Amino acid sequence: KMADHLRRLETMFTLTPQRMRMIVEAFKDALELGLSKSGQVVPMIPTYVFGWPTGKEAGNYLAVDLGGTNLRVCLVTLQGGGKWEITQTKYRLSEEQKHDEGQLLFDFCAECLKAFVESSIESGTIQRGAVLPLGFTFSYPCSQDKIDHGVLIRWTKGFGAPNTEGRDVVEMFKRSLEKHNVPAEIVALTCDTTGTLIASHYVNSDTKIACIFGTGCNAAYMERARDIPKISSLGIGSEDEIAINCEWGAFDSFEHEHLPRTKYDIIIDEASNKPGEQAFEKLISGRYLGEILRLIICELIDEGVLFLGQNTYKIEIPYSFDTAFLSLMESDPTDELLMIIGIFSHFFAVETTLAERQFFRALAKLVGRRAARLSACGIAAIVSKMGYLEEGCAVGADGSLYNKYPKFAERIHEGLVDIFGEKGRGITTYHAEDGSGIGSAIVAAMTKNRKEANV
Ligand code: BG6
Ligand code: GLC
Repeated sequence: KMADHLRRLETMFTLTPQRMRMIVEAFKDALELGLSKSGQVVPMIPTYVFGWPTGKEAGNYLAVDLGGTNLRVCLVTLQGGGKWEITQTKYRLSEEQKHDEGQLLFDFCAECLKAFVESSIESGTIQRGAVLPLGFTFSYPCSQDKIDHGVLIRWTKGFGAPNTEGRDVVEMFKRSLEKHNVPAEIVALTCDTTGTLIASHYVNSDTKIACIFGTGCNAAYMERARDIPKISSLGIGSEDEIAINCEWGAFDSFEHEHLPRTKYDIIIDEASNKPGEQAFEKLISGRYLGEILRLIICELIDEGVLFLGQNTYKIEIPYSFDTAFLSLMESDPTDELLMIIGIFSHFFAVETTLAERQFFRALAKLVGRRAARLSACGIAAIVSKMGYLEEGCAVGADGSLYNKYPKFAERIHEGLVDIFGEKGRGITTYHAEDGSGIGSAIVAAMTKNRKEANV
């Protein structure tokens, strides 16, 4: 019986090369539309980061990174010549903080930064009395009309702090910094993808695209000003370049015309705090993959296929099945699948048979593989739109899924070959340098240099 279920699920979760190519075409159209008009589903946000770094950027910068698994505060010393040093502290946000009053979230960031700066003064890495430039990595869609400004379009990744959407988050964070007397001046607001793009190009100049595969999923790349019809007057020449934060997680939102959503994806979407939104991200990112698997398991419990006679209340709790469990299940090296025994008995208090464990591992593979193949479709859309296929290109990638999920990168690469044929081998992803620390410091330095050059 389990074999029948597996076959049914395989059909639901498998993406043929032909289907992938159709998704790529629709994706390309969505990217073009976002560049042509404001307010589109995929917003294609001009970031006010103009061109690539020179490698000579230098100086001391603070960086605050809000938007991944952790809140991080960093001190980055850019030494020029593509070198740097970094010290950092991480904090975990609670689910309550994500939904508490928005200003309180920025207050918390300011308090963490203050503690970090004070300890850096004590250890002598920051001089007392210095006001350091700060790069703020805020990884949610913000529309910008200059680099040190950004209006939150909408929360993503389960955040929902009230009184923040529609407001300038730099202004809000500034208020918190002032309130807590933190000696820092925000010079640039970036997204993790833009930071990753800039930081990875700093070390590998073949990099043309950056992606995050973590709690959320998104990409950035460098676009020619003349190919962005919606920004006719930015004060830059048509040959100049500007980094675009695609916010591609929103692809196919609301209309749901192109992506192969299963009934489990639809349940996740409808039960989320943002139904209809982030349709692409909900099929791919670490926030949701564990939940997809959990919903499949729960359905089979209801049908009397799994865990008959056992108390399954723990696994019935929404979001109790972490995506890290999928990683562990796929990487279990033992014939008996001992790691999977451990996950189910320790976290969910249920016993499993070997056949069930093999079934769970096969499910994890289906869900993880679909996520990677859809990711390949997004990368392929940018590659094809920009004409990078002939010469090939490097894609800097970061995030827990990319870094920790077994075979995620390999499956993206297989997907690119399915889409493009042998030429797809010229598109390679690699683990990027720390975008929100190094990247936002480089962006801050580029901004400072640009301002000084204009004076
Ligand atoms: C980190 C990057 O490694 O990955 C951050 O430095 C990024 O910029 C993060 O936000 C995303 O991954 P996750 O898994 O923490 O959401
Ligand atoms: C979400 C955010 C986006 C971010 C991505 C990865 O998609 O909207 O800004 O880049 O997650 O963290």
